[in-house]
Amino acid sequence: MRKNIVAGNWKMNKTLPEGLALAKEIDNAVKGENLNCEIVIGTPFIHLASVADALSSGKIAVAAQNCADKISGAYTGEVSAAQVKSTGAEYVILGHSERREYYHETSEILNAKVALTLENQLIPIYCCGEPKQVREANTQNAYVKRQLDETVFNLSEVDFAKLVIAYEPIWAIGTGLTATTEQAQEMLAYIRSLIVEKFGKQIAENTSILYGGSCNAKNAPELFAQPDIDGGLIGGASLKCDDFVQIVKAF
Ligand code: PGA
Repeated sequence: MRKNIVAGNWKMNKTLPEGLALAKEIDNAVKGENLNCEIVIGTPFIHLASVADALSSGKIAVAAQNCADKISGAYTGEVSAAQVKSTGAEYVILGHSERREYYHETSEILNAKVALTLENQLIPIYCCGEPKQVREANTQNAYVKRQLDETVFNLSEVDFAKLVIAYEPIWAIGTGLTATTEQAQEMLAYIRSLIVEKFGKQIAENTSILYGGSCNAKNAPELFAQPDIDGGLIGGASLKCDDFVQIVKAF
């Protein structure tokens, strides 16, 4: 059975004390709760070790938002998958559209990052999603298929089965413009059908596929009720404990 997952993506927000306080607040709020999903908090690198140490509810895993495409060595400013793993983090968000766009992450770079993440027993949350003009031209399916074909669809069955996929239409990220429930369900069902073709029905049924893009406490219940939406990747609304916990409880 695939897991329901609500994953926060803090992006480049929160100082260390602020982030630690938010993580503890969320941890306390979910302690003892009977939840229907796994919670992941994607923090900046500087928070990973402190946040992982501070969590005690047993309900929250920590994610990095990126990792290097190299194993180790003279790469000033980079953080390796092994270093991420050593903090206690369990996930790495990879291929976010902001990384693809602002830091020029290509499929080749992402393939290296996915491989290193898996080698270090971390779970990639692999992001895909189309820009506005692609949606307007109604060619989003081909666009997302290519993103997957060039990267994670080249993994072995065993490796692919470890992944979480997040579909985030770029036009919906941070814009307040959520994809309609139908648009989100339709794309996630399409992605699952591609996984069936590539890896078979069983792996497809067991792959958690998340929706991201202006997901909030208000729209989460309807989105999460869709048969192919297994949770959300939450940006803005993950920065406030109450909002984030309400989304968690939408399952
Ligand atoms: P948003 O961001 O929820 O603020 O739209 C989502 C994301 O980029 O992961």
